[in-house]
Amino acid sequence: MDKAMWKALTGAVLAAAVVLGPAAAGSLGAGSGRYAGTETCAGCHEKEFNNYKKYSKKAHSSKSVTIMAAKLTPEEVKECYHCHATGYGQPGGFESMEKTPEMANAGCEVCHGPGADHAESGGDTSLIKGKLDVKDCETCHNPERVSAFDYKPLIFGGAH
Ligand code: HEC
Ligand code: HEC
Ligand code: HEC
Ligand code: HEC
Repeated sequence: MDKAMWKALTGAVLAAAVVLGPAAAGSLGAGSGRYAGTETCAGCHEKEFNNYKKYSKKAHSSKSVTIMAAKLTPEEVKECYHCHATGYGQPGGFESMEKTPEMANAGCEVCHGPGADHAESGGDTSLIKGKLDVKDCETCHNPERVSAFDYKPLIFGGAH
């Protein structure tokens, strides 16, 4: 890994600590705020699920952490999961690779917010975030990362 990349990664860790992770962006006014996991969405949203699995790097974002984990302390690895996993430290969200492997990648709910209530209701649209804003991306794609990677996400990119 080159120096610029390493700087980008360590910078991201500090930034994540400042914004308290991406969970804030996903919180909806109503409901329990529980995460369900991407597999739960698949049955009712087959098209989005298949596109996500095929095209989104988020579908294997935990691998980016795993491949670097040997060079990091356990504490540093935990910081990565604020952005590379789904709902880290939140109800129903990622805990660890052993306990919650199904939440290990950045899934549907990093953009659409926690979706357990929406899923259990059979698809009540008031319980899920349908309209998104670039602000929903910036908790992870923050200005520091954008300049480090020279890359700014477009609202319809990287999803489905
Ligand atoms: C919870 C953190 C998080 C949020 C919120 C988030 N992303 Fe990402 N995104 C990632 C991570 C992590 C990667 C890199 C995955 C990897 O390669 O390991 C990524 C990668 C991408 C990519 C790279 C190309 C690809 O195919 O995946 C695009 C484009 C992207 N995100 C767009 C967005 C947009 C648009 C939003 C907001 C609507 C958004 N992201 C919100 C974490 C997030
Ligand atoms: C603040 C959120 C955030 C944190 C914390 C974070 N990342 Fe990322 N990471 C991203 C995003 C977003 C991308 C996609 C590139 C971009 O837009 O910056 C990414 C990209 C990557 C990539 C490049 C993947 C590719 O396909 O090129 C690797 C590797 C990576 N991250 C590893 C890590 C590791 C290891 C940690 C912990 C030390 C970490 N990241 C912490 C958000 C984060
Ligand atoms: C990178 C962020 C991101 C991720 C990850 C993501 N979506 Fe979306 N999704 C969007 C955006 C952006 C829209 C369009 C919202 C708008 O019109 O303002 C959208 C729209 C939708 C819609 C409304 C119908 C449509 O296609 O316009 C559904 C349903 C949906 N997403 C389901 C899912 C499911 C299921 C997953 C996981 C398999 C997922 N999304 C993952 C960003 C994301
Ligand atoms: C039991 C079926 C079911 C499950 C499970 C389910 N949804 Fe939905 N979802 C629906 C229905 C029905 C609609 C409304 C019609 C449509 O847009 O397809 C909907 C709409 C949506 C929308 C658009 C909301 C809007 O404002 O238009 C998004 C985004 C979405 N779902 C995301 C998800 C995510 C993320 C998951 C997994 C956490 C999920 N859904 C799980 C049935 C489901």
